[in-house]
Amino acid sequence: MTQSTHVLRSQQFSVSCINELFARAEAFQRGGRKNYRDKIVFTVFYEPSTRTRFSFETAAARLGAGMVSTENAKEFSSATKGESLEDTIRVLCGYRPDAIVLRHPQTGAAEIAAEVSEGSGVSIINAGDGAGQHPTQALLDLYTIIKEVGRSGLKVVIGGDLANGRTARSLAYLLAKVDPNVHLVFVAPSALRLGEDIKQHLFENGVRFEEKEELVETLQDADVIYWTRVQKERIANSDYENLRAEMLLRYSITLAHLKLMKPRAILMHPLPRAGEIHPSVDGDSRAAYFRQAANGVPLRMAILERIFTRIPFE
Ligand code: NCD
Repeated sequence: MTQSTHVLRSQQFSVSCINELFARAEAFQRGGRKNYRDKIVFTVFYEPSTRTRFSFETAAARLGAGMVSTENAKEFSSATKGESLEDTIRVLCGYRPDAIVLRHPQTGAAEIAAEVSEGSGVSIINAGDGAGQHPTQALLDLYTIIKEVGRSGLKVVIGGDLANGRTARSLAYLLAKVDPNVHLVFVAPSALRLGEDIKQHLFENGVRFEEKEELVETLQDADVIYWTRVQKERIANSDYENLRAEMLLRYSITLAHLKLMKPRAILMHPLPRAGEIHPSVDGDSRAAYFRQAANGVPLRMAILERIFTRIPFE
């Protein structure tokens, strides 16, 4: 089995693969169902999750697949007894699921799992690896963007904790792939700026991007504002309190910011939010984050279906 049957990072998808996934997601959203009764999905989460785990499990259930799950692998698996990730994955692959949806605090964990699973026929889905990537979130984010504002020549502002947030990283890679005319604007306090690796990637791929420290000046002509929280779990406690205070003071989105946005622009957030979007904004039709979260189910149905029918992700 090649790596392409796994879902590990945003850069792996071809544009045609993305289009096919979105067409299937659209069909599932219109009510399409399947009965993959002989398929089994494991969800193994070593970090907390609400949306990713529930939407994957709902997707598996809607496809008629079986599912086995631990919602807290850190405490309720043999990890507490000192078992390595490699051993756990090797054992789980021996039970012959079709896919393992893995969330882990270590960057690169999904790649390690994919190597361990080699030859077993089990697909690994990266549901977040530390500050690395979250490719299925990026797919549902892009699916939402295309549905709501279109797909070409967009100005997308991505802000918040760009140093540690895996959703922002994965979305930037994906947008760079599908829209050669995209204009990316990254907004973050200096301590949370985007990593050099992505900037290098964008530069090499001729993607127009800029970095700003002020939010207000980016709002007027943006098509998408994609906001993220400070990643508490990846920052030392003492730094976190200061960074969150700065985030709330300088980067918290309120109705006053919405007034500056275009009438057809959208405000997105992978959620959970931790104060960086005020709840008074929720009633505005441009607040798209709950629609975005709901898109996780049809999109993840499309991903699982592709695995069940053994079509590679390339
Ligand atoms: C994100 C994650 O886990 O990276 N959540 C999600 O999957 N929707 C974002 C976050 O936790 O900040």
